[in-house]
Amino acid sequence: MQLARRLNKLPPYLFVDINRKIAEKQARGEDIVKFTIGDPDLPTPSHIIDHICQAAHNPVNHRYPETDGLPALRQAIAEWYERRFGVILNPDKEVLPLIGSKEGIGHMALCFIEPGDIALVPDPSYPVYSISTIIAGGEPYFMPLKEENDFLPDFVAIPEKIANQAKLMWLNYPNNPTGAIANLDFFKNTVHFAQQHNLAVCHDAPYTEVAFEGYKPPSFMQVPEAKEIGVEFHSLSKTYHMTGWRIGMVVGNSQMIDALFRVKSNLDSGIPQAIQQAAIEALRGSQDCVAEHNAILQQRRDELIKVLAKIGLKARTPQAAFYIWAKVPQGYTSMDFTEKLLDEAGIAVTPGVGYGKEGEGYIRFSLTLSDDCLEEGINRLSTWHSQKCHCEEHYEPKP
Ligand SMILES: Cc1ncc(COP(=O)(O)O)c(C=O)c1O
Repeated sequence: MQLARRLNKLPPYLFVDINRKIAEKQARGEDIVKFTIGDPDLPTPSHIIDHICQAAHNPVNHRYPETDGLPALRQAIAEWYERRFGVILNPDKEVLPLIGSKEGIGHMALCFIEPGDIALVPDPSYPVYSISTIIAGGEPYFMPLKEENDFLPDFVAIPEKIANQAKLMWLNYPNNPTGAIANLDFFKNTVHFAQQHNLAVCHDAPYTEVAFEGYKPPSFMQVPEAKEIGVEFHSLSKTYHMTGWRIGMVVGNSQMIDALFRVKSNLDSGIPQAIQQAAIEALRGSQDCVAEHNAILQQRRDELIKVLAKIGLKARTPQAAFYIWAKVPQGYTSMDFTEKLLDEAGIAVTPGVGYGKEGEGYIRFSLTLSDDCLEEGINRLSTWHSQKCHCEEHYEPKP
């Protein structure tokens, strides 16, 4: 048997070792508080589940779905974008439902990237942007997201030659893993930069509805010219706690959407229709659940930020998305400090380096664990820290 060479090009999965260690501890009966997974702990709201159940009984929904989804779903997505962002979309040409946004993100590279082509990818970032580029035979050029730039890429720092050669640029705000946000001015600059360099832009925006204190993250599609050069990926996963049902969408430039449709229609057979029916209900029905989820996450965010400050871990308070990106103390790598928290406090976090070289020096806490687990985690962090201080092994460098 001879596997394709492209598999050898995939970078090592940096979470393997730490995930194995967590699993071993759990197998030994150790109780680990996991701040690792970005998957909402609260269930899908019941009015949405009711729709899945009803639709599952209808034989119409037992057959192959169309790749481009139910017309009523495309219409519901277009209406949601208009209500939420004031963006007008043609449901037949500028909207494509996806089997979760990850699926569309992964396939988009096949529409643009030929062997040797470049995609501009943020670092740190959700790994699928670079991995799909590599699978398509291309090369990611990493745009560092620095804290001093509010975790936004500095377009001026990208060499002219690279910008002109690149086919695609990936962006993601509100951001995983940094929790950073972008405003419309940044998106306008992005459009300008893309026009100058003939780049297609893919903005990945699954967290626009997870936001705190009344903040409403903008959509990239709100820039009037965005549709000329790009698309936005979105998802029902984080907004309606529907990660397990696998449904998302891409909207915007009709040529890019058509290209993705051509790839997908040859590879998949669409989203189970009962789930599409539920998505229509989610998008059109009461949005109270979104505010309820955000209130819970905001409370968790505030509690965790408080304890991190108390134990001397520096982190910005995120205005959106459910991640806290904390700096590890001097003298530790993100992997060292992750292991230390796991071994000494029974706390699992994600090492920042798993999201790219620029993630070194950070760890990510996800807020998607139950309130009880969060409380236990907070207690463990406090106790662990006071024990460290007590036995003078405090991890901060001594003056
Ligand atoms: C930035 C980002 N994009 C996309 C996804 C994938 O979401 P979906 O469930 O829609 O595939 C995630 C999931 O964690 C994410 O963090």
